[in-house]
Parts: sequence; structure tokens; C-alpha cells
Amino acid sequence: MDNREEELIRRLERKHHLTEAEYAALIRGRDAEAAAILAELACAARKTVFGDTVYTRGLIEISSICRNNCLYCGIRRDNGNAQRYRLTREEILACADEGYGLGFRTFVLQGGEDPYFTDDILCGIVSAIKETHPDCAVTLSMGERSRDSYRALYEAGADRYLLRHETADAAHYTRLHPAEMSFENRMRCLEELREIGYQVGCGFMVGSPFQTEETLAKDLAFIESFRPEMCGIGPFIPHHDTPFAGEEAGSVELTLFLLSVIRLILPEVLLPATTALGTLDPAGREKGILAGANVVMPNLSPVAVRKKYELYDNKICTGEESAQCLGCLQARVQRTGYRLVSDRGDAPGFSGRRSGG
Ligand code: 5AD
Ligand code: FES
Repeated sequence: MDNREEELIRRLERKHHLTEAEYAALIRGRDAEAAAILAELACAARKTVFGDTVYTRGLIEISSICRNNCLYCGIRRDNGNAQRYRLTREEILACADEGYGLGFRTFVLQGGEDPYFTDDILCGIVSAIKETHPDCAVTLSMGERSRDSYRALYEAGADRYLLRHETADAAHYTRLHPAEMSFENRMRCLEELREIGYQVGCGFMVGSPFQTEETLAKDLAFIESFRPEMCGIGPFIPHHDTPFAGEEAGSVELTLFLLSVIRLILPEVLLPATTALGTLDPAGREKGILAGANVVMPNLSPVAVRKKYELYDNKICTGEESAQCLGCLQARVQRTGYRLVSDRGDAPGFSGRRSGG
């Protein structure tokens, strides 16, 4: 690490800001020593806001049916080999009940853009979960929808929405998505979610095809200006039945580096150590926590469907043993010296209309 690199890191810690060119230089100039210093500062920043707490969110993968055709994604429309399923309302509510019994107080409903889940149907499911479990937060991760749809879901009780921006570089976005999807629409969705009052999560894959230090610098500058309450990043992992089958996977090392950088940009952000990170490295999620992450999302989906929600190859927690996801993660997190908690864990600085309610 040279003086320039160290100066950038120290300034990032103090000001929570670098220019786009500086973010690119920080990434390009990184080495093990820079990563270690960043991780130490990131953990200190997190400790000030969150102490030694790591939050859990129960992930329910409600549908592997998707009308979209993202080039990287295993459940894209054109993948004729994908196994499609859709959970019924009853199955989803049963997952939430089971999760509640296990201690979860946030449920994340995630799925492909499945036209079956109209506003009426999804609102009914959200309000049923909120009625049965009023002390829980409901997070949706159901892709791009209209403003009216986002509003209806919010009124039905959804508290948070995850919609990764995927890349903040419009030209890069075009290379990862089919022509019918647009960067502008993605950004519109994120702005609308924010306006409506959701706690909003954006994010991106590390090492997606055509990504450069410059596009990553744009991601970081976007995160700095958008100030999401949550931010999901994980390595890109090729899926064998997609156009990107032959591409290289992203790197665990760069993912960990960026987790630390994002923690320093936004000390209060809820930052998951993702399943993709745990897929590329058996100790990936623990390493993510030690780099500055503070959320884990054990899978609550019925074991029978888990293998079918295959966004990328070799996804972990899909076998018979996966019913014990929570216990497994608990042991893993404890070994890092942090404390896994089950409460809602709203974004600390959140000032939306329904914060904490
Ligand atoms: N590798 C890693 N992450 C992926 N996602 C989709 N496909 C892949 C892949 N092949 C991520 C996207 C999406 C989120 C739900 O999963 O960033 O937003
Ligand atoms: Fe389903 Fe991208 S393939 S949203």
C-alpha cells in the first residue's frame, strides 16, 4: 500500500466521501494491507452504530417464474431448463409462521417477476403476514413494478424493498440486460420506492461481465448519493444455462474490500453477507461480517423448492441439511465474535413515514 492509497482510506473514513476517480484509484491500488486497514476501520464504524449485533432476515423465495431475461440470471425467461415453482399463499404464510417460531422478525419475500403475483394477491399476502405478526417487518424483493403497485404494497404493510441497481453505469446496464429493460426504469423504481416511504435496498454483483474499476466507482458514488438503507452486494457466479455461462466468477477478495468501503461510506447501512459470498467461499459470510457486513439472510423456503431457485450454480443451503440454516449461521456468526439477533433491526437513521411502526 502506498501513501496515496492510505490517504484515500483515511479520508474516506473521515468524510464518507471520495470522488468517482478516487474510488476507482482506491480499487485499482488495493492490496492485502489496504484491505486489512479498511476492514478494521469498517468494523470500528459498524461498532459505533450497531455494537456487536448482526441481524437476521428470513428469506422466502416465493417464485422461480420470471418474465425477465437478465443475461446473468439462472431463472431468466429463456432458460428452458430451469425448474419453475410458485409457492401458494398458504405455503408462504406457513413459512412466515415457522420463521416466527424460530425467532425471525423480518421476512423477505423474494421472487422472479412472476405475473401471477398481482397487487391484489401480493397485498393480501403482505397484510396477512402483518396481521398475524404485527411485530415483524416485511421486505419485498419482487423486481420492477409500477409506482401504484409499490404504493399499494406499502399501504398493505410492506416496510422495505430490495431492488439491486445491478450497475450504476447505463452502458454497462445495457450489456447485462435485454433491450426491453432499461437503466432509467430501474432508477425510476428506486426513486419511487424511496418517495413512497420504504426503507430501500440497492446493490450490485461484484465481477459481473464487463465490470471495470470505473463502473464500480460509479456504483460507489451512486450509493453515496442515494444513501440506501440496505445494500446487497455479492460476487457474480455464472449459471450454466445463461449467456454468461462461460464468464469468470467475481472475486471474494474484491467483494470483501467493497463491503468495507460501503460500510465507511454509510456507517448506518444494513449490509448483508450474502449467500453468493458463502457459495464461492465456505467461510465467505463470516469473512463478510469481519469486513463490515451486519446482516445474514437464512433461507426459510420449503426445502423441496430450494434447488429450483437457482440464480447461479452451486448455491449453498439448498440440500436436506438446509432446514438447519439458522442454527448453522448462528454458530458461524458466534465464531466471528458477533451476536446474531432476531429483532426487526430497522435502519437506524430512517425517517420514513412508518419507521419502527
Ligand atoms: N450470480 C450472482 N448473483 C446473481 N443475481 C442474479 N444472478 C446472479 C448470478 N449469476 C443477483 C442479482 C439480483 C439478485 C436477486 O441476485 O443481483 O438482483
Ligand atoms: Fe428475472 Fe432478471 S431474470 S428479473
